[in-house]
Amino acid sequence: MKTLIAYFSWSNNTKTLVERINAGLNYDVVRIERATPYSSDYDTCAYVEAKAEVTSKTHPEIKKLDIDYSKYDRILLFFPIWWYTFPMPIATFFEGLKGYRGKVYVFANSYTHDPQYMVNSLRDLRSIDDQIDIHEGLFNKSVKEHLSFIESEER
Ligand SMILES: Cc1cc2nc3c(=O)[nH]c(=O)nc-3n(C[C@H](O)[C@H](O)[C@H](O)COP(=O)(O)O)c2cc1C
Repeated sequence: MKTLIAYFSWSNNTKTLVERINAGLNYDVVRIERATPYSSDYDTCAYVEAKAEVTSKTHPEIKKLDIDYSKYDRILLFFPIWWYTFPMPIATFFEGLKGYRGKVYVFANSYTHDPQYMVNSLRDLRSIDDQIDIHEGLFNKSVKEHLSFIESEER
């Protein structure tokens, strides 16, 4: 089974999680980045840029990814929660998967643990493209739990 990990990370918690999970797996990894980077200042990023984007459901341009998704049986999609759902570059990435026939697993992390965040994320992804085979992954779990989940789904 061929697996791709795609992730978005602003303050690198998700990046670190992905790197630790993938240390022994060595899946292909791609980082999703907004074409115009968010401010490195938390208040500007959170309260101005991200908030405006989430509120208006704007899907910002992302850096071009030269990937043939059809090569992969599954995509593990990792992101931090931004304003109760996924960061909007994830929306742009997800739109770019149009026609993808494999499985997409969703993994989120956040500062506070509100189970509704995963519910919102799955709902909002499905509203972008309800033809993609989305699966709930894990929310705020350890590296070990991710490894056992990813292995158990490899069937
Ligand atoms: C723009 C922005 C919005 C956020 N919104 C939420 C939120 O709604 N709920 C929450 O628990 N954490 C929220 N956080 C915290 C992040 O989800 C958390 O710190 C995450 O681990 C950051 O991942 P990263 O380092 O990969 O960017 C937010 C952070 C940012 C920067």
